Amino acid sequence: SFRPRIFSGIQPSGGLTLGNYLGALKRFAALQGGEAETVYCIVDLHAITVWQDPEGLRQRIREAAAAFMAAGVDPEQSVLFNQSQVSAHAEMAWLFNTVARVGWMYRMTQFKDKAGKNAENVSLGLLAYPALMAADILTYQATAVPVGEDQKQHLELTRDIAAKFNHDYGVNHFPITEPLIEGVATRVMSLRDGSKKMSKSDPSDASRINLTDDADTIAQKIRKARTDADPLPGQVDGLKDRPEARNLVNIFAALTDETPDAVLARFEGQGFGAFKPALAEVAVEAMAPITRRMTEYLADPAQIDAILARGADRADAIATPILDRTKDIMGL
Ligand code: ADP
Ligand code: NA
Repeated sequence: SFRPRIFSGIQPSGGLTLGNYLGALKRFAALQGGEAETVYCIVDLHAITVWQDPEGLRQRIREAAAAFMAAGVDPEQSVLFNQSQVSAHAEMAWLFNTVARVGWMYRMTQFKDKAGKNAENVSLGLLAYPALMAADILTYQATAVPVGEDQKQHLELTRDIAAKFNHDYGVNHFPITEPLIEGVATRVMSLRDGSKKMSKSDPSDASRINLTDDADTIAQKIRKARTDADPLPGQVDGLKDRPEARNLVNIFAALTDETPDAVLARFEGQGFGAFKPALAEVAVEAMAPITRRMTEYLADPAQIDAILARGADRADAIATPILDRTKDIMGL
């Protein structure tokens, strides 16, 4: 059996959003101090599967580190580091490129979405992305991974790689990692389109709330969020065919740590003219301290770099023996 260890990561491919906060960062912080060791990573090697301007990337790595800490990830309690500083990730990913099958990669919906009609012309790394993600997780023999719903299929592929490796080499070397997809904010949707998830890579800034948005911007984006014109029901059952309304209620509930039903009980019969200002208020109240702490951290980039360097040393101490053992099993 494997000792309980939680791993997760976020790409520094743009400014982090309310979706990243509610679906990932807030939960990363909450999982600290439990039975499982927590290992959190800024996955810059994933980000470069699509073009990143080098200076911009350097800055976004620090911003992501600041966001983790501002959201409550404590770099003493957790291991917090940047992926490219721990070479075991890239090396393990290569080993997994020989375990995973090409067909598994072509089936990934995120690859299909990101490649679009251009599948012959995207980077090879974009196709192999899930093998690197499996390497991130399994290089720590992580037993659980908190993620949003969009990562479910990639997590299944990680489990497939672990199982195939264990089977092919006749070992019980990798755990079959459990996805932790929990709570009401596992899929925060775009504010402009109830069928798309909120994403840092959406071209429309109005579609998302950024962790760096100020109070006025947050209020304005919520005021302009797409909704229907009906009053709110007393329970979530009544929101079945109203994805935009459901999304705003879920965001409210996740921000205030209530159930959606508890939120609706207060707003039953009211319209968005009343609900949206209330949502803006709780959003600003939750986000303002995070934005402020991010700014404080970012005022001292050298300190961020030092924190990440120390995190990388701690990560390396866990990862390297597991990588060495993996190579040994393979005859390398
Ligand atoms: P993005 O899609 O914003 O680039 P990442 O791929 O870096 O985000 O994902 C980082 C983490 O944030 C993952 O666990 C992912 O599932 C989670 N996440 C991303 N977008 C959302 C969202 N809209 N709702 C909930 N969780 C999300
Ligand atoms: Na994503």
